[in-house]
Amino acid sequence: MKIYEAHSMGEMSRKAANIISAQVILYPHSVLGLATGSSPIGTYEQLADWYKKGDLDFSEVTTVNLDEYRGLDGSSEQSYRYFMNQHLFSKVNIKLERTHIPNGMAEDVEAECRRYDELIASLGGIDLQLLGLGHNGHIGFNEPSGAFEKTTHCVDLGESTIQANSRFFERMEDVPRQAITMGIKSIMQAKKILLIVGGEDKKEILHRSLFGPVTPNVPASILQLHPNLTVVSCNAL
Ligand code: F6R
Repeated sequence: MKIYEAHSMGEMSRKAANIISAQVILYPHSVLGLATGSSPIGTYEQLADWYKKGDLDFSEVTTVNLDEYRGLDGSSEQSYRYFMNQHLFSKVNIKLERTHIPNGMAEDVEAECRRYDELIASLGGIDLQLLGLGHNGHIGFNEPSGAFEKTTHCVDLGESTIQANSRFFERMEDVPRQAITMGIKSIMQAKKILLIVGGEDKKEILHRSLFGPVTPNVPASILQLHPNLTVVSCNAL
């Protein structure tokens, strides 16, 4: 495990963007696993900036996102498809048809989960997976539970996750209670993992994730077993 401790959120975002840029420059056909939430916003801004300056080319890149809310379609401002379009995809020359996010509107959710796993397999897996960390230790929306869920699945979001997500919604009752998330196996099979974590409020959970026992009660703790994990943190270690 490599750990970089940044002195500011800006530095954290730049460092993470550096690592993603290196991947894209060295391997233009990379499959990037992407995350939403507040943690990667600065990183996406930085990547868009470097693209604008002519330093990056996303034309051959494919992306697979970690998760999507159940019941929101891509035109909904709170959906993760909308988030990705807004923060990254519309700002760089990625081909939209190469960007993949679970379909939160799928009627047959089991079939959608299977489709997503098959898609990831057909792409040859993920080269670099970007992750944020939930306050309860979730990665993607793999919530604390009795066992690690391996494959893409539909999850009932925990109370603390619903609370945390509510900051993006006007009314509490609008916050989705379910999401489709990539499973732990797909995440762990990524060739490289980049975890970005900022803020005092994540200190305790980051510590438990990186240095505590590996347990499905702290889903991120499984990352300790990954052979190529990079953690970029600010004020969280
Ligand atoms: C988002 C995701 C989540 C977030 C986590 C941290 O796609 O999968 O696991 O990474 O909830 O969220 P922020 O960055 O908003 O603190």
